[in-house]
Amino acid sequence: MWRHRWTRATALLAVGAFAAGCGQGGLDPQGPGASRILTIGTALTVVGTLVAVLVLALWWWATRRAGREELAPPSPEQQDRESTLQRRFIIAGGIVLPSVVVAVFFGVQIAGAVAASDTTEEFTIEVTGHQYWWELDYPAVGGVDAFETANQLHIPTGTPVRMLLRSDDVIHSLWVPQLAGKADLVPGRESELMVEADRPGTYAGYCAEFCGLQHTWMKFEVVAMAPDEYRDWAAQQAEPAIEPADDLTARGQSVYLDTSCAACHSIRGVDDESGIGPDLTHLATRNELGAGRVPLDAGTLRAWVANTQTLKPGAHMPPQELTADELDALVAYLLSLE
Ligand code: CUA
Repeated sequence: MWRHRWTRATALLAVGAFAAGCGQGGLDPQGPGASRILTIGTALTVVGTLVAVLVLALWWWATRRAGREELAPPSPEQQDRESTLQRRFIIAGGIVLPSVVVAVFFGVQIAGAVAASDTTEEFTIEVTGHQYWWELDYPAVGGVDAFETANQLHIPTGTPVRMLLRSDDVIHSLWVPQLAGKADLVPGRESELMVEADRPGTYAGYCAEFCGLQHTWMKFEVVAMAPDEYRDWAAQQAEPAIEPADDLTARGQSVYLDTSCAACHSIRGVDDESGIGPDLTHLATRNELGAGRVPLDAGTLRAWVANTQTLKPGAHMPPQELTADELDALVAYLLSLE
């Protein structure tokens, strides 16, 4: 009875873990980095299974044999032959076979890493991990000025892009399972990760290292676009913020400048300085708020500005003491920033 329950529980766990793996997308690679990982992972699983089956078969054979030997003790010559056979067996199965298997995998892995490091990137995007969001600094490329965004990395398809990874506070880890492996962002150090997508699409990413209260809501997204679409997007993002078009948004801009918003955030063309919190120049082009915490709309933005702690306790943005009118104007202004 108990044995059955355990077997069933183990089977369920295995299926669950497998399904979770599929859900994360590691089994559905959409770029060369993730494909390489899946290939070597599959090869390791197949070879590991073959070795396990071989060892189990030998174990079964040995126990059967041991039972027979009890009936008829071997002669001295037989014992000699046996011990020679055993020695050969140990050398072949215990030293030669594992060395070959490990050497082959090591070689394949090294060759893959060398091939990956030989890829010349189109450009480098600086990714800085903050508690609990991602700062993305794009370089000036092809006549488009440098610009900053947050949480959603846009890249052109079929183009290797290097991510230069840094952390501003604690250790974070960046993982976009469908596109590439995982890399840590360690304070005081720089690391790199290549990202490339074969097809246009949105690929989910995560912070994969516990980094504090809101580690869960430190999501990351890669949006891969056709190269000409990407160029348009980048050109638009590099533009300064648009001017307020009416009284309400103009009042919103003064609220932004006169309260503590501008102390941490920046809007290019309005206040370029601070750079502590996410850049808001084109906030309305993003579809999520708080690194994937909620969809971005007037309701969530209002709640977020009034008291971020209700949506994301532990985030570093303090509650804002604003009147309802000020909030309305500010939210209207921020949502006009396309
Ligand atoms: Cu950043 Cu977990």
